[in-house]
Amino acid sequence: MDFTITRRHIGHIIGVGFGLFGCVFVTLMSSFTLRADNQADGVAAAYQGFRDRKCQSCHPAIWREWENSMHAKAWVDEIYQAAASQIPDRETKCDQCHAPQPILITGVGKMPKLRDRDQESGVSCLVCHLDAHGAMHGPPASAETYFHANVTNPVYTDPTALCSTCHGQPSVPEHDQVSSFLSSKFAEKNQGCATCHMPVVTRLQSTASYERIKGRKHTWRGSRSVAQLRRAAGLQLEYETGKVSVKLQSKTGHVLPGGTLRTLILEVVLLTSDGIERWKQEISISAKNNNRLSPDESRAYTFDVASATTGDTIKAELMYQLTPATPESAWVLMTEASYVVP
Ligand code: HEC
Ligand code: HEC
Ligand code: HEC
Ligand code: HEC
Ligand code: HEC
Repeated sequence: MDFTITRRHIGHIIGVGFGLFGCVFVTLMSSFTLRADNQADGVAAAYQGFRDRKCQSCHPAIWREWENSMHAKAWVDEIYQAAASQIPDRETKCDQCHAPQPILITGVGKMPKLRDRDQESGVSCLVCHLDAHGAMHGPPASAETYFHANVTNPVYTDPTALCSTCHGQPSVPEHDQVSSFLSSKFAEKNQGCATCHMPVVTRLQSTASYERIKGRKHTWRGSRSVAQLRRAAGLQLEYETGKVSVKLQSKTGHVLPGGTLRTLILEVVLLTSDGIERWKQEISISAKNNNRLSPDESRAYTFDVASATTGDTIKAELMYQLTPATPESAWVLMTEASYVVP
């Protein structure tokens, strides 16, 4: 991988400039810079800077997006903690992805390693961006900062490389969105995970930038976003005397539902013109039932509605249940269709 290091010497230039007036300023500067000579110091200073909210002060928009994302909550998430508490050896089986060390240090694509500090910050900025020298890797930058070196690294614009480290480990099929994506039409069209989960935005990438450049939102909206769920699938009804066919079309870049805790519920009802329910059927689609939709799949379920008479309505709803404990009142309507029997 070819890294481009942009003007790493800026720290020294500042050093020389102030050197004419005395060393006090130089020492002052280096006390809050990550450009330490000692590599371990650079990493320690990054952790301290993160804790002191320095990243937030220069990258307020990105910080706000991240803070509201499931990446920020990957450790404190109650659903996660409840599940992990059932696992006797969670430190080696679970925790390493929910509070990982920086993956540039442990190896992009390799199984992450558990972090022993600041676990509550989950998948933090440092997990995705910090290298062993205290530098921040990313797509090409437009400005310099005294605080950290910027390193251009092609991993950030690769369709899946960064994300696969946690969302595509072969030994953890429960959390794999990558392999189904790679065999889909989305992958052929040069799209990636970021296409749907990190929308493009042109803005100042930090308070110290002068130029608005193209970057991506750090929102990672998934199954907790109604807008995302409404885009996930299409539904069509086809009626032919006595039979109705409900056609589901996945528009999701990977298996649907994407996670193993989630369930899609297809509900089909037959209503009289007065709205009285004559008949109802439900189908659950989940990893547990081994019937998730693949990314390009179009699937039809056919129901016998011989009892339907003129003026009856056939109504189909596709709903999303976050976890098996989510009550029906909190299921999210993804899409619906209805048909009046002629
Ligand atoms: C290889 C990294 C990795 C490992 C190891 C891992 N997870 Fe996860 N976990 C993820 C990712 C990525 C997600 C989000 C995607 C998904 O749900 O598939 C996730 C999501 C979850 C969720 C869903 C949380 C929610 O809010 O709905 C639960 C629960 C969970 N993990 C529990 C566990 C448990 C328990 C273990 C250990 C047996 C474990 N994880 C091990 C990466 C990992
Ligand atoms: C003093 C201000 C300042 C602080 C503090 C700061 N940054 Fe930056 N950062 C910048 C500037 C300026 C850029 C370049 C922005 C641009 O391209 O317009 C940048 C770029 C980045 C990049 C992209 C690098 C690249 O080459 O694409 C990442 C990632 C990053 N910062 C993460 C962080 C993290 C994490 C922290 C906290 C540990 C942090 N920054 C603290 C000013 C700062
Ligand atoms: C270091 C590990 C790691 C990396 C790298 C990573 N993720 Fe995640 N991601 C997680 C974990 C863990 C969760 C689950 C958090 C939870 O629900 O507890 C998650 C959750 C998500 C969610 C689900 C949000 C929701 O609302 O359910 C999306 C979407 C997501 N990640 C997309 C991405 C994309 C896109 C990339 C690549 C740019 C990426 N992730 C890289 C670990 C990672
Ligand atoms: C799950 C991994 C992940 C996490 C966590 C993460 N980033 Fe990023 N970041 C990315 C990716 C991927 C890109 C490349 C987006 C693109 O193509 O423009 C990026 C790009 C950037 C950039 C360059 C501007 C841009 O949008 O391209 C900056 C600055 C940045 N991140 C700062 C941060 C800060 C600050 C945090 C914490 C508040 C953070 N990132 C958390 C994955 C992550
Ligand atoms: C074409 C758009 C699209 C692409 C490309 C895409 N996703 Fe998704 N993703 C969605 C939609 C829609 C949902 C919500 C429905 C679902 O799958 O549960 C989702 C949900 C998720 C979730 C949440 C699953 C859960 O259980 O909460 C994760 C994690 C995720 N995607 C990760 C990824 C990763 C990693 C990639 C790249 C391999 C990727 N996505 C590519 C559209 C996309």
